[in-house]
Amino acid sequence: MKLAIPRESAEGEERVAASPETVKKLITLGFEVVVESGAGAGASLADDLYIAAGATIATGAADVLADADIVFKVQRPDDGQLGHMKRGAVLVAMLDPLNRSGDAEAYAAAGITAFAMELVPRISRAQGMDVLSSQSNLAGYKAVLDAAYEYRRMMPMMMTAAGSVAPARVFVMGVGVAGLQAIATARRLGAVVLATDVRPATKEQVESLGAKFLMVESEEAREAETAGGYAKEMSDDYKRQQAALIAETIAKQDMVITTALIPGRPAPELVSEEMVKSMRPGSVINDLAVEAGGNCALSEPGRVVVCFGVTIIGHGNVASRVAGDASLLYARNLLNFLTPLVDQQTGALDIDWDDEIIKGTGLTRDGAVVHPQSREGEA
Ligand code: NAI
Repeated sequence: MKLAIPRESAEGEERVAASPETVKKLITLGFEVVVESGAGAGASLADDLYIAAGATIATGAADVLADADIVFKVQRPDDGQLGHMKRGAVLVAMLDPLNRSGDAEAYAAAGITAFAMELVPRISRAQGMDVLSSQSNLAGYKAVLDAAYEYRRMMPMMMTAAGSVAPARVFVMGVGVAGLQAIATARRLGAVVLATDVRPATKEQVESLGAKFLMVESEEAREAETAGGYAKEMSDDYKRQQAALIAETIAKQDMVITTALIPGRPAPELVSEEMVKSMRPGSVINDLAVEAGGNCALSEPGRVVVCFGVTIIGHGNVASRVAGDASLLYARNLLNFLTPLVDQQTGALDIDWDDEIIKGTGLTRDGAVVHPQSREGEA
């Protein structure tokens, strides 16, 4: 069976869906692996490394995708790539299904069996396949370094012969996987860290990392978490209370890292223009939610802007800014997803459509859209 690794075509996407390490393991599983020339370049993985691992290098999307039984990608395929995929091929990638439900129809029409890795359920058996965790973790780390780079002052307290330097005050908003890593990273750099979330369960996690926790005390917060552990959209009254709390806190912060997301909905706006105005010039905001609409009213996707003396970072796709390690982890997530689907005796794919992970991630099968959320999206 042929497994293809095309080069990512989306602008700014430097990651790749297989590493030399996972290629070796895929070959041991019985696959013939074909990598598009230059696919690993953004992650500093040269073609030679893939050849040494046993892969074949092909030039151009048509050659790499022709006859491929399985296609591993980072982002959704572009129209050209989709056009080269054969009917019956299995596509495994971050397909952004909650925002691009129309794509599922196109995969079904092309006869492709598509799996969206963002939908891997957060159960212990699937932890090694959890792309949101592996990528958000690295993004949380890099977000602090990006903010520290723009910040014109020091992170740790320093006592020098010329006098002392105060530590940076870092405020992390949204304490999921990225937020927790941002807290840990800012603490390691010597900052004084404060964090907030709508889910009360995060208090203990924040405090165990040596940061202070702040949140709106309200009955509603007890219901803020879905069964899957995600946040819900809060009421207008809660939002007003939260805005008042943030407004009185943010003016004293030097650096703000925002990571708040609500699956399938626009990111909540947590930092208004007025709040930015209240911050000291030289402060830095890094909006990790910029691609989902942004947590800060003034952040701009793909840009670093200065408003009222405050630098606002909106890089987007931050995991791609550490493409080397992000690719290694992502490639392992995909390998871990595929391995249980391979029949040990025959080497063929044996997909159990009753399995929780398959049901959670499978968008299309036999020319039809099968995922309930994607089907709803079309209605
Ligand atoms: P996410 O990326 O969807 O959201 C980031 C954070 O923003 C969340 O903590 C969320 O509560 C917070 N948020 C949303 N709206 C907010 C608002 N208005 N104000 C302040 N904060 C707001 O979250 P992520 O990182 O995907 O984690 C979601 C959950 O999944 C967590 O409970 C996490 O512990 C859990 N998880 C479980 C795993 C497993 O069991 N295998 C693996 C990874 C995460």
